[in-house]
Amino acid sequence: MAMKRVANSAISALASSSTVFTRQAHASSGSKKIVGVFYKADEYASKNPNFLGCTENALGIRDWLESQGHQYIVTDDKEGPNCGCQVVDVGSFLAKFIDIHFCGFVAELEKHLPDTHVLISTPFHPAYVTAERIKKAKNLQLLLTAGIGSDHIDLSAAATAGLTVAEVTGSNVVSVAEDELMRILILLRNFLPGYHQIINGEWNVAGVSYRAYDLEGKTVGTVGCGRIGRLLLQRLKPFNCNLLYHDRLKMDPELEKQIGATFVEDVDRMLPKCDVIVINMPLTDKTRGMFDKNRIAKLKKGVMIVNNARGAIMDTQAVVDACSSGHIGGYSGDVWNPQPAPKDHPWRYMPNHAMTPHVSGTTIDAQLRYAAGTKDMLERYFKGQDFPEQNYIVKAGELAPQYR
Ligand SMILES: NC(=O)c1ccc[n+]([C@@H]2O[C@H](COP(=O)([O-])OP(=O)(O)OC[C@H]3O[C@@H](n4cnc5c(N)ncnc54)[C@H](O)[C@@H]3O)[C@@H](O)[C@H]2O)c1
Repeated sequence: MAMKRVANSAISALASSSTVFTRQAHASSGSKKIVGVFYKADEYASKNPNFLGCTENALGIRDWLESQGHQYIVTDDKEGPNCGCQVVDVGSFLAKFIDIHFCGFVAELEKHLPDTHVLISTPFHPAYVTAERIKKAKNLQLLLTAGIGSDHIDLSAAATAGLTVAEVTGSNVVSVAEDELMRILILLRNFLPGYHQIINGEWNVAGVSYRAYDLEGKTVGTVGCGRIGRLLLQRLKPFNCNLLYHDRLKMDPELEKQIGATFVEDVDRMLPKCDVIVINMPLTDKTRGMFDKNRIAKLKKGVMIVNNARGAIMDTQAVVDACSSGHIGGYSGDVWNPQPAPKDHPWRYMPNHAMTPHVSGTTIDAQLRYAAGTKDMLERYFKGQDFPEQNYIVKAGELAPQYR
């Protein structure tokens, strides 16, 4: 019941903020081909009826789509298996993320692109939508992100091609903020070494306590203070920390006072003051690689970093080097570059990390909300109606402000 209420309230919240207009690209009626790219759940798929985010359960919209005459193809095969063959440089956009392992066989997604009208993807198992793929997808009109963060799409290419890109804004912000709070505590308390001791049959209090700290009294700064950043600061307030934030925009003074955080306009003045840094901004041309060797060198020695935003905001090797030297005292997050992270990704092996796969924004509660939000946008698309304004990432050739 509670789950249903979450989904229903998400739909009505989205519905209340919309206006109707005639879409150019979306006005055409008739049967559509919709392709969804999600992570595969295998034996976990049937363990929870609300587990909607996987290929098997496909956001719970298959019956609804098919009953209306639409075709719904779902796959997790977005790049093709990594067969370790010849590595080719694909240039421009995709090369920023990954090396493609080219072995002469075509991913399921690639096969369907030429006649797809709508592509649904998620940040958890990102279908990298390059300019080349957009060019191939001659019928494509709409790219929907089931979740938040559409940086896996070449947004400029999408804008130039006249495509609409939209995500379910707000759908998993609580899920991520809660997860960040957990990661801050896991790092500060040096939790994982103690856990591993128990698994390994050991008992060594000193091995944990020589570098375990309270959160109270520490300076915590968020870089990016939109929906997730604010929710995190609200959750941190009762811990009696010194809260700082940097964003392109200063909060409304009343809200700032209520949250109890201080704005720092210059990020490089804020960062060296922080015991804990949390990244809460999108991956854009401006934020890609922002935490490089030089910036990390200016942080406090032993700083803890939590990054659930995007892996590519960090310079991968600079993080490895700083964790190895102890300059970064702990690094935790769920975002990698690329995803899924290859077996030899160096963040798997660096010291003092508490990394996980991309999970924070895909709790069951979040899945219910982003599945409902995706369905709501599809329904509007079929009717030629506008989406809630805050959902647009690319509209009429323009990128949303947070991506400019
Ligand atoms: N790990 C996950 O499961 C997960 C889930 C949801 C979102 N995310 C990531 O978190 C990001 C933030 O989500 P949100 O809902 O809070 O978005 P939001 O749009 O509400 O907030 C983003 C904030 O970043 C600020 N910003 C943008 N560029 C900046 C820059 N160059 N310098 C400083 N600030 C800048 C914006 O002004 C905005 O206030 C998403 O873009 C996504 O990448 C991850």
